[in-house]
Amino acid sequence: MSGPVLATEGLSKGFISGGQRLPVLSGLTLGVLPGESLAVVGRSGSGKSTLLNLLCGLQRADEGVITVAGESFDSSGNRGFATRWAELRRRSIGVVFQDANLMPALSLVENVRLRTHLAGLTGGDERDWLERLGVGAEADRYPDQVSGGQAQRAALAMVFAMSPALILADEPTGSLDRHTADEVAECLFDMQANNGCALVLATHDRELAGRCDHLLDLSGTH
Ligand SMILES: Nc1ncnc2c1ncn2[C@@H]1O[C@H](COP(=O)(O)OP(=O)(O)OP(=O)(O)O)[C@@H](O)[C@H]1O
Ligand SMILES: [Mg+2]
Repeated sequence: MSGPVLATEGLSKGFISGGQRLPVLSGLTLGVLPGESLAVVGRSGSGKSTLLNLLCGLQRADEGVITVAGESFDSSGNRGFATRWAELRRRSIGVVFQDANLMPALSLVENVRLRTHLAGLTGGDERDWLERLGVGAEADRYPDQVSGGQAQRAALAMVFAMSPALILADEPTGSLDRHTADEVAECLFDMQANNGCALVLATHDRELAGRCDHLLDLSGTH
């Protein structure tokens, strides 16, 4: 794909609070090319998570257009909106949250297998992905039998194993100590560079943000 993996045009979102509309994002236009990373920073409440939720269709914009992997979503259009987003999330968008979103009843390798299966891939290389992320030895353990850093590495293995066009990461190292956070971030950037996918990373961590190609500061945008 030669154009941007992700593009937004005139994206706006607000919430109604106490009978008044609280604007969170106003007329946001951006583009992220394959292999590029965009850091989204800004004080708490500035709209980082809201933006990421819009970019994977978990929330709906009030205005604007979002295009991911060639598929466009206009805030004013209704036809198949939720279904099209769900399909895109399953196949093309890897999402990483602050706390690893692993299924507790499945081992790490089964979690990765589930994700590749949902993405419609034949799989078979789930253990290799865990190995590459440094948790090969923990593949048969359950999420409650590994550390937070190991769980987050497994969450990254899930995301990379599905070969996404776009990764959305919301404070992916936010619950880890500095050393572990640095290691996990290293994995994230390495794998992203190898994979060639686009990355949008919401973070309070200026050091982490500084490693991205572009910076979007949402403080004071509304
Ligand atoms: N579902 C909702 N209903 C009403 N207001 C909301 C809702 N979700 C978010 N908000 C408000 O929108 C603003 C942006 O919230 P958001 O979670 O996007 O901030 P953030 O930048 O991710 O903050 P943090 O750094 O604390 O994670 C906040 O003022 C929040 O209270
Ligand atoms: Mg947030």
